[in-house]
Amino acid sequence: MFDLTGLTTLKLPLHARQVLKISSVENACISGPEIASQPALILGGGSNLVVFEPEFEGVVVRPEIKTFDPVIDGDSVTLEVGAGYPWHALVMKTLEHGWFGLENLALIPGWTGAAPVQNIGAYGVEFAERCERVLLYDFEAQTLIRLTTDEMEFGYRHSILKAQPNRFLVLSVTLNLSRIPEPRVEYGAIREALETLGGSADSPRDIAKAVMHIRRAKLPDPELTPNVGSFFKNPVVRSEVADRLALDFPDLPMYPSGDSRKLAAGWMIDHLGFKGRSVGGFAVHDQQALVLVNRDKGTAQDLRYLIDEIRQSVKETFGVSLQIEPTQLGRL
Ligand code: EPU
Repeated sequence: MFDLTGLTTLKLPLHARQVLKISSVENACISGPEIASQPALILGGGSNLVVFEPEFEGVVVRPEIKTFDPVIDGDSVTLEVGAGYPWHALVMKTLEHGWFGLENLALIPGWTGAAPVQNIGAYGVEFAERCERVLLYDFEAQTLIRLTTDEMEFGYRHSILKAQPNRFLVLSVTLNLSRIPEPRVEYGAIREALETLGGSADSPRDIAKAVMHIRRAKLPDPELTPNVGSFFKNPVVRSEVADRLALDFPDLPMYPSGDSRKLAAGWMIDHLGFKGRSVGGFAVHDQQALVLVNRDKGTAQDLRYLIDEIRQSVKETFGVSLQIEPTQLGRL
């Protein structure tokens, strides 16, 4: 068995029988049928994976394609990027070139191939807004397939790749960027950080710096403190439910989400006094209650107990069920 624990940012033990590196699209086509014939786990940066059971009797696929192919047409830039390109490095490289659109998504850990899977989003912008299409290997049809943004069925932390988890392997994403800045600073904390840093709301590079400033203040660095970012999704509830909750909890932050409303799960967990609460080696992060950290060689069992406590408590007080946000391997 191969020990892959170090390839996940939560550092829960992971051992697998086989590891397969995919370094090109051709490579994916050749290896596709073999991968399709057994259980497979796709592992990129490992920053959104929770391993509940350590032994994986299958093949771990590492999509290491690192291509970077821009096409410039006037002010618009169409950029195809390989699934193995580290996301934050990509954001920084596009900004260096003066190609804008990804600045709000700075400092998100992981590889580019994971971005469409859960439609990464932060500080008012989602991946879907900059995505033109995604190149996939379809294990079912055993062929390459290109899906447009509409066909990807993007939603809040959702895509067709979440709906059909073992069917596709992301090989590249094609992004729509612009040489003209289109700043997005509606998220309040960005304006505050710009002021603190003396940056300009018209400069995408300053926005990226502001986002990095906020993230560094609130979110633990996975290189130093094992974590997978937000551990739960912000629950989306019907407006009537949100209105009722607002009567009892007037400070509970809520955001419109279609006809429904999205509630700040971090606020709810914080309100219940969970910040800093620990079970064995796992704990609720001190600065952001939506993040769970593996502080001291935590086990999957510690994590299960902590998840259970949080969910039960939130359910009792707010009547809302929290869903785990990262991908899970093995039974909870
Ligand atoms: N809040 C608290 N206490 C806490 C945490 C949050 O009171 O301990 C409050 C905040 O003050 C704020 C609200 O709750 O009023 C929302 O908090 P925040 O802005 O930090 O964002 P979030 O809803 O907790 C989401 C994403 C993050 C993303 C941020 C910024 C999800 C599941 N998470 O977090 O994404 O960076 O918004 O856009 O949607 C991730 O997915 O891993 C991730 C970090």
